Amino acid sequence: MVETIQWIDGAVVMIDQTRLPLHEEYVTCRTYQEVAAAIRDMIIRGAPAIGVAAAMGVALGLLQAGESDLDAQVEAICQTLGQTRPTAVNLFWAIGRMKRLYASLRGSPIAEIRRCLVAEAQIIREEDIAICRAIGRHGAELVPDHKTVLTHCNAGALATAGYGTALGVIRAAIAAGKQVDVFADETRPFLQGARLTVWELQQDGIPTTLITDNMAGHFMKAGRIGCVVVGADRIAANGDVANKVGTYSVAVLAKENGVPFFVAAPVSTLDLTLRSGDEIPIEQRAAAEVTHMFGHQVAPTGTAVQNPAFDVTPARYVSAIITENGVARAPYEESLQNMVR
Ligand code: MRU
Repeated sequence: MVETIQWIDGAVVMIDQTRLPLHEEYVTCRTYQEVAAAIRDMIIRGAPAIGVAAAMGVALGLLQAGESDLDAQVEAICQTLGQTRPTAVNLFWAIGRMKRLYASLRGSPIAEIRRCLVAEAQIIREEDIAICRAIGRHGAELVPDHKTVLTHCNAGALATAGYGTALGVIRAAIAAGKQVDVFADETRPFLQGARLTVWELQQDGIPTTLITDNMAGHFMKAGRIGCVVVGADRIAANGDVANKVGTYSVAVLAKENGVPFFVAAPVSTLDLTLRSGDEIPIEQRAAAEVTHMFGHQVAPTGTAVQNPAFDVTPARYVSAIITENGVARAPYEESLQNMVR
């Protein structure tokens, strides 16, 4: 399995997801500022993976910090990491967990604080892999046998510490003996589907067909898709799901064509403080991601551009939300509460 992010000898090593699939290169971050830049520049991306990166960033920050006014330094570290990407709540969940641990250790020798925070970041990474496997086990039962699964973006090993959420469900279904193949939306503009999902599934020998985003409806109408499985960046209390832009279109098409639409996500992606998806902050990214492809300009100079990185799928389009603690179905106000233990 691909190693998305690791703590090695006091540094954070991550596979450079801007270079895949043609170049398999690793980036080493030795400061929390470098981790923050790696998250912002999408060297590492995917909600659970950026949570793990942020936790390791906090740990690196503690290794960098001097002894005086440690509280203020920790606050600054967490602020820098928290300002990288706004939509995936896993980032804030991980920072919050590290902050609470720090608070519980206040007054201890700094060496002890450092040791505990470094250990905690590695625990968060290991837990994430176990959580993905549990999501896979719950989700595998929902995947129809001898069918094609459509996915959008990359919610795989690369988007987590390993195994993946949506792709974890597919992996687990195959491990359970089901015969499934995958259709991967290319996922404009950043091409996570074409570059990352196809690459990652190829490593595992899972049969995968790449389609452009605008082909999904065609294949659903033709009866080629057995179900859709996607990940999530933030899920509100009413079951509205923020995920990679384009997910909403896929969900509407799925409902129109009677195709089940499943969301696979850890409990750390739930934000039950938000009543609906209207309250989820949507990241706006640079215009150049739309006007240019791999450095080549594809639109006229001066083109007006919108580039929201995520959209919100209303809960009424979501057939089920698969978590590590089980499968939630509508009404989500109730069922999502039951997932939180
Ligand atoms: O902008 P990205 O690549 O970070 O967006 C990733 C997604 O939208 C994923 O589907 C989501 O984070 C779930 S990852 C398990």
